[in-house]
Amino acid sequence: MANVKAYEGFIDKKYKPKKTDVIVQYRVKPSKGYTFRQVAEMTAGESSVGTWTEVSTMKPKIQKLAPKVFYLDKKNYRIRIAYPLKLFELGNLPEILSSIGGNIYGMKAAKELFWEDINIPKKMLESFKGPRFGMKGLRKYLGVWSRPLVGTIVKPKVGLNEHEHAIVAYDSWLGGCDVVKDDENLTSQDFNQFKKRFLLTIKKCKEAEKKTGEKKVYLVNCTAETQEMIKRIKFVEAHGGNYIMLDILTLGWAALQTARNITKLPIHAHRAGHAMFDRDAKFGMSMEVIAQFSRMIGVDTLHIGTAYGKMSGGKKEVLHIEKEIESQYTKKTKEYLSQKWWKVKPVFAVASGGVYPQLVPKIMKFMKKDVVIQAGGGVHGHPHGSVAGAKAMRQAVDASLKGVSLKKYSKDHKELAEALEKWG
Ligand code: 3PG
Ligand code: 3PG
Ligand code: MG
Repeated sequence: MANVKAYEGFIDKKYKPKKTDVIVQYRVKPSKGYTFRQVAEMTAGESSVGTWTEVSTMKPKIQKLAPKVFYLDKKNYRIRIAYPLKLFELGNLPEILSSIGGNIYGMKAAKELFWEDINIPKKMLESFKGPRFGMKGLRKYLGVWSRPLVGTIVKPKVGLNEHEHAIVAYDSWLGGCDVVKDDENLTSQDFNQFKKRFLLTIKKCKEAEKKTGEKKVYLVNCTAETQEMIKRIKFVEAHGGNYIMLDILTLGWAALQTARNITKLPIHAHRAGHAMFDRDAKFGMSMEVIAQFSRMIGVDTLHIGTAYGKMSGGKKEVLHIEKEIESQYTKKTKEYLSQKWWKVKPVFAVASGGVYPQLVPKIMKFMKKDVVIQAGGGVHGHPHGSVAGAKAMRQAVDASLKGVSLKKYSKDHKELAEALEKWG
């Protein structure tokens, strides 16, 4: 058992956090034999200057770096810790996570530990790049100002060859999608290789632009080992690409930082694997925190859930995350810390996962217009194929903007009518 005494001295309920402090909110439950206060102190200590025993190398200057647990809510097992900024290496997210998202998860003293939220100070935000385009930049690029963007994921997820993939993408753009993306698990397999797929699909993208008179983007999945990822991004840039996509969590934060540093293109962040961190309420890190770090590093679009689709995540959670990534300020509440974003651009929220036309009015009602509505199965599952599927999605968006029910709108929009019939 750890020497609890060695971790003492981190609680100071009178402490008023400084503007430069990093504030972290955890929910932490003590294991048998420990009190809530003790595990709170151990969390603060193990994530900073403490260890299980007093050490002879401790110095007063080091004690000055000690964080303060300034808020304890025993009823909800919630604590807030203020960490002095000097504890961290700015611009190095892996280091920051090794501190406040590291050893503490393994402490025997913690029966549960969930990282709910973070308040990132200005100086730390400024040490990262933030989105290059952001919401406004993307709207400007696409020339779409007053409606949600409509997107699709080529389906089946994997298995189509490069030519088949490009055709599915083309059909989706023709039908009305602004955005076509690869799926998270398609990179460069034998049956569908990266360079060939990219070249064929981006060619179709330009053709679709000519044919429709609308701007179109292709989000090609560049997820790979870091050097290979860089090569793929450079290839996309050199051959007329207009967007890259990355599986940010399986890739890792360091690689995402690298990608942001080297590319001039917008970055689409797929969150595959996020539920390993945020789904179990006992141990993990919230999607809220993942979203904040994604914005800080600088992705332009991020999957945040739909509340109605196939993925976990309730309406309240999805809405809060949307606000966190799309606005300049979020207020402090009992459950959340505040966050001011200063000059960091807003990230476009993506609603994806099990979406189909019937869900569009519901999604638009709670997420409003600033959202990318994406459907894979909900486009390519249309009885008359991808063109019709994309049309039905656009029609559902148009109907919602006009405040007309889908049923009524489908009377003179046959693709929508067919979709309603299939997914009733
Ligand atoms: C580690 O890196 O494994 C820990 O920092 C161990 O530290 P400790 O021996 O003081 O517990
Ligand atoms: C995604 O990448 O979000 C999923 O592939 C969505 O696919 P679906 O619309 O078929 O659920
Ligand atoms: Mg937050």
